[in-house]
Amino acid sequence: MDGYLAARAGRDRARGLGGRQIRRRSLVDGSIAAVAIGGAGLLAGSLTATFGRDKTVKPRQTAAPTPAPAGPVVSVAVSAVPVGGSAQVKDPATGDAVYMVQPTAGQYCAFSSVCTHSGCAVDAPKNGQMYCPCHGSKFDAATGAVINGPATKPLPKYAVTKEGDKLNLGPLQA
Ligand code: FES
Repeated sequence: MDGYLAARAGRDRARGLGGRQIRRRSLVDGSIAAVAIGGAGLLAGSLTATFGRDKTVKPRQTAAPTPAPAGPVVSVAVSAVPVGGSAQVKDPATGDAVYMVQPTAGQYCAFSSVCTHSGCAVDAPKNGQMYCPCHGSKFDAATGAVINGPATKPLPKYAVTKEGDKLNLGPLQA
């Protein structure tokens, strides 16, 4: 770099430039060269860091995620839910009342008691239907479907699993 600047200064002197102009050109050329060399150094360092990384070093291991604790299991005795009858439990997530039902022998499911019209509590299943006292909606106790409005959406349905002599409330179904 110094040799290049000295040769250039000699050429400038031969062209008749003064000492002050030559010094200024040398300073500018030197600064540009320094910036270029610095940039090249940074680029080389970056490439070395990227491609020269030791492939044998494994990323730090983190502890395996622990499964979320299971919520409380809500269950009732199978004998508490006769065919056509129901047992009331609480959804542990919302605190809402839920009716576990057995519409036909051996078929179990559960429905939210919250009316889909305006949120009143529907009555327990009776004669295959659940009645909402607020505005008169009626729901099918086997499917949760609307029989009479003004509600237009079925009651939310839960899965129910039988485990020995117990019925466990499962998650809400889509
Ligand atoms: Fe049930 Fe209106 S809230 S019918």
